[in-house]
Amino acid sequence: MFSVEELFRKEITSLKPYKPIFPFEVLAERLGRPPEEIVKLDANENPYGPSPKVLEALAHYPYYYTYPDPQATRLREALSGYVGVPMEHIFVGNGADEIITLVSRLFLNPSDAIVILPPTFGMYEFNAALQGARVISVPRPLDTFSVDVGAVVEAVENTSPTPKLLFLVTPNNPDGGISPPEVVERLLELPLVVVVDEAYNEFSGEPSFARRVLERENLVVVRTFSKWAGLAGLRLGYGIFPEVMTQVLWRMKEPYNVNAAAMAAGLAALEDVNYARRMISAIVAERDRLFDELGRIPGLHPFPSRANFILCHVTGMEAHRLRDTLVAEGIVIRYYDEPDLEDYIRVTVGRPEQNDRLLSALWRALG
Ligand SMILES: Cc1ncc(COP(=O)(O)O)c(C=O)c1O
Repeated sequence: MFSVEELFRKEITSLKPYKPIFPFEVLAERLGRPPEEIVKLDANENPYGPSPKVLEALAHYPYYYTYPDPQATRLREALSGYVGVPMEHIFVGNGADEIITLVSRLFLNPSDAIVILPPTFGMYEFNAALQGARVISVPRPLDTFSVDVGAVVEAVENTSPTPKLLFLVTPNNPDGGISPPEVVERLLELPLVVVVDEAYNEFSGEPSFARRVLERENLVVVRTFSKWAGLAGLRLGYGIFPEVMTQVLWRMKEPYNVNAAAMAAGLAALEDVNYARRMISAIVAERDRLFDELGRIPGLHPFPSRANFILCHVTGMEAHRLRDTLVAEGIVIRYYDEPDLEDYIRVTVGRPEQNDRLLSALWRALG
């Protein structure tokens, strides 16, 4: 008798074990607090949620009993107006995560490689591992977190076969710093596809690289409704691609990858974009206040951010102990305890009263 496990792909069995994150209700139950008392600042969600018009559109959508439009036609039309590129270049997915997965599947064979610029978002490495591809890391220095372009060029030139994909996040998760256009332009000269992840672009006030896709066949821009539009729970993301890429993505995607509720919500969010803009302004103002306040706490060193979160180096105690102390008070944050980012925490910018609770708890723990 054989063991089924022997039949698993080794790329899958060698993946790192899954670290669950606890949803609101589960956490509330564990801590013996009502869910509305939990301050969730660990996943860069938008604390204001979607526009009331989105909730109305969801309540009144009449066709939940039929399959959704596989081409997301109306949503892509609306997105075309929002990002300023023709809809033939826009491909919609079940979160930006699905866009990243599909790009990885499109390009990566087991002998291939990608370049990442850590510390950064984890999904690029995860997808490379699923494909059995190698990951070439070109670290960002832990003071400025800027991209070391010279080191990237060298790494690409010295890797054989040449890496196929380079993932650059701007503003970067977890530090919130942006990469200027010159950096992206230099990377675009490399013989690979540059994937610019703009999940947090709307908080940065920076122009998008979306329109540059019309001129460069080796550029992909990834975006999402999770953050600015407050729709993380509905899973809606999109990519702006050169047309040759969208054509193959249509062939390889699951027919109904984006559900009808997500599409209705996305459309309504784009129709009421001014609501989101007001919430973004509130978050940006709070981000700047929170940055100043965090900087006053002993043993905590915040980094300036252009996104909806702030990374802090914790020198006053071990970051995981600080995380535990905050959790006991019903405040959930992200902490990093990895070789490339030891004793750091990342806090999402919440509503003013949530940020105040975080600040008081931090003063109690570190002050
Ligand atoms: C840089 C970055 N890209 C993509 C995503 C995933 O976005 P989505 O919720 O649309 O899958 C995140 C989520 O945290 C992120 O930080």
